[in-house]
Amino acid sequence: MATTIPFLLALLSLSSILFGTTKATDPDVLFPGYPSPWAAASGASNTTILDPSWAAAYARAVAFVANLTLPEKVNLTTGTGWQSDRCIGNTGGVPRLGLRGLCLMDGPLGVRRRLMRLRGEALGAEFRGKGIDIMLGPVAGPLGRAPEGGRNWEAFGPDPYLAGVAMAETIQGIQSRGVVACAKHFILNEQEHYRGSVDVRIDDRTMHELYLWPFADAVRAGVGSVMCSYNKINGTHACENAWTTNYLLKNELAFQGFVMSDWGAQHTTLGSALAGLDMTMSGDGGPPPYRSWWGGALTEAVLKGDVPQWRLDDMVVRIMAAYFKVHTGEYEAQPDINFSAWTNKTVGPLHPSSNQSITTVNEFVDVQDDHAALIREIGAKSIVLLKNTDNFLPLRDPPSIAVIGNDAQDPPGGPNACPERGCFSGTVAMGYGSGTANFPYLISPATAILEHTRHSNTTTTFTNTTSNWDPAAAAEAARNASVAIVFAAATAGEAILSIDGNAGDRNNLSAWDNAAALIAAVAGANAHTVVVLHTPGPVLLDAVAAHENVSAILWAGFPGQESGRALVDVLFGCVSPQGRSPFTWGASEADYGAQVMYSAPDPKNPVQVFGEGVLVDYRWFQRHARGMVFPFGFGLTYTRFRYSDLKIVRKGGVQGPYPVAKEGVTGPAPMYGGVVEVGDAALEGYMPPDGFKRISPYVYPWLNSSQGFVAGGQGNISEFPAAARNGSAQPLLPASGAPGGNPGLYEVLYTVTASITNEGDVAGTEIPQLYVQLGGEDNPWGVLRGFDEVELQPGETKTVTFELTRRDISNWNTTTQNWQITDREKVLFVGSSVRDIHLNASLPAPEGMAWHVG
Ligand code: BGC
Repeated sequence: MATTIPFLLALLSLSSILFGTTKATDPDVLFPGYPSPWAAASGASNTTILDPSWAAAYARAVAFVANLTLPEKVNLTTGTGWQSDRCIGNTGGVPRLGLRGLCLMDGPLGVRRRLMRLRGEALGAEFRGKGIDIMLGPVAGPLGRAPEGGRNWEAFGPDPYLAGVAMAETIQGIQSRGVVACAKHFILNEQEHYRGSVDVRIDDRTMHELYLWPFADAVRAGVGSVMCSYNKINGTHACENAWTTNYLLKNELAFQGFVMSDWGAQHTTLGSALAGLDMTMSGDGGPPPYRSWWGGALTEAVLKGDVPQWRLDDMVVRIMAAYFKVHTGEYEAQPDINFSAWTNKTVGPLHPSSNQSITTVNEFVDVQDDHAALIREIGAKSIVLLKNTDNFLPLRDPPSIAVIGNDAQDPPGGPNACPERGCFSGTVAMGYGSGTANFPYLISPATAILEHTRHSNTTTTFTNTTSNWDPAAAAEAARNASVAIVFAAATAGEAILSIDGNAGDRNNLSAWDNAAALIAAVAGANAHTVVVLHTPGPVLLDAVAAHENVSAILWAGFPGQESGRALVDVLFGCVSPQGRSPFTWGASEADYGAQVMYSAPDPKNPVQVFGEGVLVDYRWFQRHARGMVFPFGFGLTYTRFRYSDLKIVRKGGVQGPYPVAKEGVTGPAPMYGGVVEVGDAALEGYMPPDGFKRISPYVYPWLNSSQGFVAGGQGNISEFPAAARNGSAQPLLPASGAPGGNPGLYEVLYTVTASITNEGDVAGTEIPQLYVQLGGEDNPWGVLRGFDEVELQPGETKTVTFELTRRDISNWNTTTQNWQITDREKVLFVGSSVRDIHLNASLPAPEGMAWHVG
């Protein structure tokens, strides 16, 4: 429960960040995050530009919500409790109108744009086939500030531009198949240690330019839901944080969908409702008598007038609008939920928390379609070839191959032997925790390489050494083979599980289980050693990279069920490698700009200052001239490319430092359906229907007792500024205007083209990258602002085109609270990694502006 002092302190520190110092004395000025913005299309406040899918969805949502009673509205906002129904999260439904409770399930597992989109579509189709309404992914928080971060593998890497593109493509893919996506975890959920209590101190500029950036792309892509995270931001938990949810997400980014809490990340009734939370998951966990922060406690708070009815109505309209935007059919035709998140058996309880209603809970509907081929293609094309001395790869039917290492093997006990993959045994093909799924099967590298040598008319002989702990035996096997392929791995995951003392976050950047000694022994014995890595992020590779007997290094990430076959495709040249590293490989942990905070001076109040600001990953390495073993964006192919002919064309449109902003005010907060009378004495209307039998510990929306209000612990309304309950028209923010922010930010100001020629003897795919130096001391050497995929035959030349938007060349101005093109000279770089730059040119200033040089 929030007490007055920390809450005020939190918001004071927040306002100092926003406004430099806190001079104003009017409490409403000190709380820039209130009131919680009501959805723009929901009636009177149509000042935000919305695409037709939101507008149509809102019309349906409004018509639906206008028919609901207060408890029915609350029922849609509140989870029924942990394990109370079949999905990992379940809301109450509206049985009277034939709407079953919504089903929420995890699944962020997973490049490039086409494959990003196809992967999203495949995920969406599988979730839809299971009867799931809301998929709990994709992930851009963690972004990957610290390379050891436990959940980095669920996301897309520490560059915000790359993460933003991946979020948008994935979301559009998922939602095109009738499943609401959820951009999570909002925001700054960068580590697992202390994840529920860590107080992240961040400045406004870093928030915008780094961590909020990919969420802006998610909102612009039309994401239906966002999950607030476990951590605190500048003193206040994410799910009660008016700055992050109300001000940044719903106001500035004009997010029109709903915000759900991470499981148990809500801590107050009033604080969360007024700060913009719309749905609580898993719904239980609050104080007695409701044992939920919402449910009956929210009904009570609305009846008391502590939470204005417009806020509740806005929650429900947002939930139903996201639903109708994505589920285009009638809601009565929702697919049935045909599985249980809680058991692999056919028969079990529908409500495991109370062990009630034993029935068929798993119908084992096969939703895999032909996705195996896509998984294999993504696996192969995502492999990053880090070293390939004298074009050693692809392998050309060597006389003998020795496969060495535990990470090449079938996991003993099967691929799902450990719940949520919480162990380290056999090949690693996904991380651990809630982001996992059960493997339908898992093709290990050893199996696939053996299969290849048997079926491809070669005479290659094959040996397999399974243990990492006997370097002498490994060396012996390597010595007797013409090629030795040695495997090394590490894993990471969620802090609900711990492996070998790694509680989610990795304890260091070494490969696990004696891997360094194993690689050294193998490379000491065989001059044609290939190292294959399955890791969630970087491991320390400088010794391996420098070893003259290591002919090739491949990073295969976490490739999923087709792991072995995807690797074989690249090793033997069926697929030309083209993956690029989405992070930098440093020579030591200390070379990175940020580390996990493993222990806090005050463990009860762990504070973490993101003092490196925007200088994460390659930006830090460049600023501090740290050597990169392999830089961000790096990856070899089986051919060579030449870059030429960089051209920049300034487009028309709005020029000058700022985009055109809409001025004026929103409409007032709308309400739907019967208006609840504050302080209504007729509490019976909010009690369960006569004869209704409660099942404990299921969470309900009704009051607990007709004797009067009983809930304690929801918070005291006097702690909140009046603005928190103010439903009158609100001024528009200059940075806002449409989902994703001011549409002017996405206007293309420049077109950049370059030619790329394949100068080698084989076909190959280049991934050219565009970096922009925004200029001035505060900015990194360069930031990624474009990439493409170009397939080229030998001798062929193609032109690549990058479009630079206003946002791409702007910085966040903390004073004007707007994106601004500064007058610092800006330079463009085009290359094949952040270190391998082939072309550069100064960007002409927008019309009417001149660069201040020096
Ligand atoms: C995780 C979320 C997940 C939820 C439901 C939480 O512990 O942080 O990412 O969606 O559990 O499994």
